[in-house]
Amino acid sequence: MTVHSETVRTERHGSVGVIVIDNPPVNAIAPSVRDGVAAATAELAEDARVAALVLHCAGGTFMAGADIKKLAAAPSRLTSAEVIERLEDVPKPVIAALQGNTLGGGLEYALGCHFRCAAPATSLGVPEVNLGLIPGAGGTQRLPRLVGVEKSLDMIISGKPLSAQEARAAGLVDRLLDGTDVLAEAVVYAQEIITQGGTVRRTRDLPIARVGDQVFTSAAQSAARTRRGEEAPLKAIEAVRGAVEHTFAEGMSIEGEIFAACRASAQSRALRHLFVAERQVGRLPGTDKVTRTESIRRVGVVGAGTMGRGIAMTCANAGFTVVLVETDAAALDRALWGIRETYAGSVSKGRMSEADMQAHLQRIVGSVELERLRDADLVIEAIFEDLAVKVRLFADLHRICKPDAILATNTSALDIDAIAAATPRPGNVIGLHFFSPAHVMRLVEVVRGRQTVTDVIATSLGFIKRLRKLGVLAGNCDGFIGNRMLAGYRREAEFLLLEGATPEQVDDALLQFGMPMGPHVMGDMAGLDISAAARKRRRLEGKLPPDKRVGAVADRLVEAGRLGQKTGAGFYRYEPGARAPLPDPQVHALIEREAARLGIGRRPIGAEEIVERCILPLINEAARIVEEGIALRPGDVDVVWVNGYGFPRYRGGPMWYADELGLERVLATLQRFRTEHGPTYWTPAQLLTRLLEEGRAFRDLN
Ligand SMILES: NC(=O)c1ccc[n+]([C@@H]2O[C@H](COP(=O)([O-])OP(=O)(O)OC[C@H]3O[C@@H](n4cnc5c(N)ncnc54)[C@H](O)[C@@H]3O)[C@@H](O)[C@H]2O)c1
Repeated sequence: MTVHSETVRTERHGSVGVIVIDNPPVNAIAPSVRDGVAAATAELAEDARVAALVLHCAGGTFMAGADIKKLAAAPSRLTSAEVIERLEDVPKPVIAALQGNTLGGGLEYALGCHFRCAAPATSLGVPEVNLGLIPGAGGTQRLPRLVGVEKSLDMIISGKPLSAQEARAAGLVDRLLDGTDVLAEAVVYAQEIITQGGTVRRTRDLPIARVGDQVFTSAAQSAARTRRGEEAPLKAIEAVRGAVEHTFAEGMSIEGEIFAACRASAQSRALRHLFVAERQVGRLPGTDKVTRTESIRRVGVVGAGTMGRGIAMTCANAGFTVVLVETDAAALDRALWGIRETYAGSVSKGRMSEADMQAHLQRIVGSVELERLRDADLVIEAIFEDLAVKVRLFADLHRICKPDAILATNTSALDIDAIAAATPRPGNVIGLHFFSPAHVMRLVEVVRGRQTVTDVIATSLGFIKRLRKLGVLAGNCDGFIGNRMLAGYRREAEFLLLEGATPEQVDDALLQFGMPMGPHVMGDMAGLDISAAARKRRRLEGKLPPDKRVGAVADRLVEAGRLGQKTGAGFYRYEPGARAPLPDPQVHALIEREAARLGIGRRPIGAEEIVERCILPLINEAARIVEEGIALRPGDVDVVWVNGYGFPRYRGGPMWYADELGLERVLATLQRFRTEHGPTYWTPAQLLTRLLEEGRAFRDLN
């Protein structure tokens, strides 16, 4: 055994020389890995006793990608592209022994080897686009030579990995292993190759299929649809085109230039920020070892409506047994039938196996008796949004549940402390605010009440992680993080109508900005009666300022029976049975009447103003949320708005976007709006002013 660097060594298995990479936990491609592989390659290439090389990783996974923290700058030492070239140059067969995650740079090392064998559970992919990058170590040049241009475009643009079996069928893997001892099996495979003459098969020398221009055009069209607004997929297409139209060496330099440009791009910086932020949420400073997450095994869900069903499925999918409680047998039957239907839909779409569906269903037990929650470690309440009803339920839950059980509420807007006060154990009460549909949406706001104890917070965050969701800690306030910010966004979207814009102008501007849909299309989808009812309630509770413009248009629409898509008319009109929103002159007239009634002068409003008016309140409110400690860090707010509200991922979230705009510009625009529209909604958050004075940005608080 020779040690080449702190992470790479070589071994001899007869005439087979093995390069072992050992960089736990995921064999990330650190500088010591690159240097070590280069040195090991040189040693084994020169050793006359070695007839073939195997590239192997210790610890159950191949290289799972580059070290994301090191991506910001160009490597000062050997690049992966150079190391891979040396591997490919070796005049003896080089075999990659793949297992676990073979992703990004990891797959590029495998592509530079002459042969690839893989354990059955290997996952092979190039997810660089998710970070605003393209494969930058020959992936865009070698992959099309192995799997064809179309398949490689598909893999690079989607970023989705192939299973070992799919990779075998695509020509990416030459031999499927049994997987019991990957290294031993790879060595046997290498010996077979030696026996058969030890031919070298360099990927770069394989012919590349010529394809017509329309392959690239249609890939670009599909990327524009599936990854709207993202630059990296289009850049990746250019790089693959380089592989087809140029020599390998020229293609490599095209790829290198595009990669460097992507790495320096604002989109890639934003996406890398989110990658880090999504791994940071759920980490409660100072509580690393105190969670008893493992103690959560049996979950109770009360209320099997829209949310309760989704939450029950999410828990069952993650392996928890769930007791789902409803008020009566008929409602319970409807819910269990609904759950079965949802699972069956996933099975018929090929997203879930029949066996998994059966296993998940078995873990969900329905009941109409609250007493069945006696053994639950955690109960999640998802009944009607009514404080009195919830208070009664929590008193009952306290009576029934184990003393240390966590009692959680899925309320979207009620006061967690008022619910906690219904029990003598407020320290064990917490909000778990799932988003709809709960079995699909990754975001959960974990809302701590005034008295929630740290152990319960940490355990709940750990539990959400076990559900494979993103649990973001929030303080208890009106709307928590996400909905509190949404209020200003919605308010301005409606004020803009009164001031002169049409619903379609507002929606188009925000769609162009990158939101998945405009606020008025969204309102029509959700039902305008729902938000009108919430507004009425909030007005009675004194939570809305006495401003006649709030709800002015939407309330008139509801009065006119225009409740949105479900009635064929809302902010837009809809053809019978169709969902496409169509501009409606009647709505334009209604808006003009309302503006006149309120004495608001109308003027033409451009897209830029629309975006500023709607997005700046998000930023300003987010700053207050961080200032008040409602969110732990700006990155958490970004995670909430990207994952719960569709803020464009490639802009990094509202707070990252504010930093990119520059806080000076943000503050100046807020001050301009304050002058034009008054201080009620436009007084800049103190945190903004303070950070500017200190020459810092939101990102410095992450
Ligand atoms: N729908 C959403 O988009 C959404 C999103 C986040 C949070 N929430 C919150 O989740 C909760 C549930 O919302 P939903 O949309 O699922 O409502 P829903 O009306 O669809 O379901 C509520 C269910 O609770 C049952 N129920 C009522 N009282 C009960 C009791 N005492 N014991 C057992 N079951 C009882 C009802 O029969 C009904 O099936 C609310 O607090 C709501 O604010 C909803």
